[in-house]
Amino acid sequence: MTGSLGRPRLHLRVTESTNDRARELAASGAPHGTLVTASMQTAGRGRQGRTWVAPAGCALLMSLVVREWDELLSLRVGLAVADVVGSGASVKWPNDVLMSGRKVAGVLVEGRPQEGWAVVGVGVNVAVPAGSFPPELAGIAGTLGRDRGELEPFLDAVVCALEKRFEGERDEVLVALRAVDALAGQRVVHSSVRGVGAGIDASGRLLVRSENGAVVALDAGEVHLGTPTAS
Ligand code: BTN
Repeated sequence: MTGSLGRPRLHLRVTESTNDRARELAASGAPHGTLVTASMQTAGRGRQGRTWVAPAGCALLMSLVVREWDELLSLRVGLAVADVVGSGASVKWPNDVLMSGRKVAGVLVEGRPQEGWAVVGVGVNVAVPAGSFPPELAGIAGTLGRDRGELEPFLDAVVCALEKRFEGERDEVLVALRAVDALAGQRVVHSSVRGVGAGIDASGRLLVRSENGAVVALDAGEVHLGTPTAS
């Protein structure tokens, strides 16, 4: 993928979901790289039908229109965000970014491949106060604990990292992902399999060594992180 990401940019003080705005723009012909950001969302969406909530002005809320991508798109995005989060960041397949075992960023890719576009939505808890998460997210959600003034530089860094990871060779991306794979050696539970994370294959699928020793490749779906194995 080539070209400049982040232009044109539409910034909204409040919107339901930046993914919705970006989808509308994509459907009406917005070019590859078009960026929508917001200070606040009133109906932020997560994966698996979940909501994504963040206090106003504390999180990076962005959606990017893409018109060129490969099957690793959603993994490339998680990796790019982990690059910016920095040392200690890991990626829980396919694209949750964790710090100290807590999710600090999520990625929601939605699209109409038949119309030639996808929207990459990213939420990062850059400056969310640690005590502001609802009780049900305690111990699960985390924050980078930065100042609000770091939101714009963080956005710039994410856009640069996305450029780099979108342009990266598949093998390079997969090697980098495997190095920050939060599920490697961890107990994982998927709808159809229980086992231990055994890496990421050449197609970007999660490998799980199941309890009977067979290695299963998972394409998508919810993967729960269990407790570390006693090895
Ligand atoms: C997830 O981890 O479940 C994905 C969360 C994605 C949240 C971002 S915030 C910006 C963009 N707009 C949305 O409504 N969702 C994504």
